[in-house]
Amino acid sequence: MALREIVKVGEDLLRKKSKPVKNFDKDLSTLLDDMYETMRVNNGCGIACPQVGILLRAFIIEIEGMKVEFINPVISDTSGSCILKEGCLSVPNRSEYVERPTKLTVKAFTREGTPFEMVAEDYVARVICHENDHLDGVLYIDKIAKKK
Ligand code: CO
Repeated sequence: MALREIVKVGEDLLRKKSKPVKNFDKDLSTLLDDMYETMRVNNGCGIACPQVGILLRAFIIEIEGMKVEFINPVISDTSGSCILKEGCLSVPNRSEYVERPTKLTVKAFTREGTPFEMVAEDYVARVICHENDHLDGVLYIDKIAKKK
């Protein structure tokens, strides 16, 4: 495993739309393993491929010991709403309030190419939405919630 450099806000790549993963191969596994290492060393709870300079539709999360990899994810059935502070490894030393759904369903593939479906709530749902946005070039700072 190796650490990858994190792409920071201001770099064009972070604003590009990622392409679906087609090859569930060794390179993908290496990339995901490197992303875990890079996320952990930076105390993150999620990281998406564009954040390490790769425009592929995949992200990983690790929350309270629960590790999940989402390849070619599709979010559906979002419900509820909650405004909480978020940060991002690509936007250092900043956090802002963002409105996210409190519940969602996400369909994706494992690194082996096996499809799965997961229902996520609260903080996990928030992280999934945040990481999924990266795949479309969207950053949480684009969505700062207005104070109510
Ligand atoms: Co982020």
